Amino acid sequence: MKYSFLLLTTATASMATARLNRRQQQSSCPNVHVIGARETTAPPGFGSAATVVDLVQRGNAGSTSEAIVYPAAGGDSYAASVAVGVAAVANQTRAFNQKCPDTQIVMVGYSQGAQIMDDAFCGGPDGASLSTTEASVSAGVSSMVAAIILMGDPRHVDGLPYNVGNATAGGFAARPVGFSCPAFENIIQSYCDAEDPFCAKGTSMATHQGYGREYGQQAFEFVQKQLSAKASNATTASSRNSTSGTMTIMSNSTSNSATPSASSRASVVPISSASVVMNEWSLWVGMGLAALLL
Ligand SMILES: *[C@@H]1O[C@H](CO)[C@@H](O)[C@H](O)[C@H]1NC(C)=O
Ligand SMILES: *[C@@H]1O[C@H](CO)[C@@H](O)[C@H](O)[C@H]1NC(C)=O
Ligand SMILES: *[C@@H]1O[C@H](CO)[C@@H](O)[C@H](O)[C@H]1NC(C)=O
Ligand SMILES: *[C@@H]1O[C@H](CO)[C@@H](O)[C@H](O)[C@H]1NC(C)=O
Ligand SMILES: *[C@@H]1O[C@H](CO)[C@@H](O)[C@H](O)[C@H]1NC(C)=O
Repeated sequence: MKYSFLLLTTATASMATARLNRRQQQSSCPNVHVIGARETTAPPGFGSAATVVDLVQRGNAGSTSEAIVYPAAGGDSYAASVAVGVAAVANQTRAFNQKCPDTQIVMVGYSQGAQIMDDAFCGGPDGASLSTTEASVSAGVSSMVAAIILMGDPRHVDGLPYNVGNATAGGFAARPVGFSCPAFENIIQSYCDAEDPFCAKGTSMATHQGYGREYGQQAFEFVQKQLSAKASNATTASSRNSTSGTMTIMSNSTSNSATPSASSRASVVPISSASVVMNEWSLWVGMGLAALLL
């Protein structure tokens, strides 16, 4: 009798401790992390992706960002640069997701930076750069990515559901006609106008460099919409899993793992204090249950 009481209590306490540790570990993680990739020959950093990276960061208090580290080289080195870039997108997103599995991820790629994200999420083949048709990103990344913004993507081809802009011609590394990216088509926006020499067959460098000014705000609004849709989806999914009365208490601590969007965050109890309360609560509920059983 005494022994089983002790076992139950100990089990409940260690469950509570495990959850508390998980929360503490992730309390240093942001709700939103933005990952940007620059265009060919831009110096290390975000390059022209900075416009949207900055808008998203400013729109989501506490969010963090990082730049994809790759050569962004042109000319004869372009294909090799894309190959390294695709691997870098896969590696950096995986590493971040392993560290912060509950953080929503936003991708912003500009020109060659768009191409490497397009390839990493939607697969190849891509000339000499990538032979596989498989996505390179991990399953964890796939489930936490909320939006993918591509600007001046050389892989642009007419007819994709996520195309924005008036380009109809394909880019210099265009996808084949009929290509699709079903896993991510609802969360991608790919901006390309007819005058762009790289994502279409135009002649205006100004168009290619101008997507931040032309579409930055629109892209930002798309990102915000996706972030809050995904956050409320996660909340719905976790509360749907609760069954009994006792589980209702548990479901509230589970729902803390949903990453609230900027718009809903204000009304959410700070995660750390809420989960401490919940963990102590479940400990007492567990002890109460144990006492009843004996
Ligand atoms: C990606 O990770 C793999 C395996 O850890 C490593 O071999 C490769 O050099 C990395 N590539 C880049 C571009 O970071
Ligand atoms: C395409 O859209 C851009 C940006 O709105 C505009 O400046 C350009 O005139 C348009 N081109 C065509 C061919 O419609
Ligand atoms: C919401 O969840 C459903 C079912 O799990 C999924 O099919 C859908 O893509 C999700 N929507 C978003 C915006 O994550
Ligand atoms: C809900 O339960 C299903 C089936 O047990 C599981 O696959 C899913 O991951 C759960 N979702 C959450 C958010 O806990
Ligand atoms: C649990 O969450 C729901 C919805 O977020 C809220 O209405 C309810 O008061 C919470 N219950 C507890 C015990 O915190």
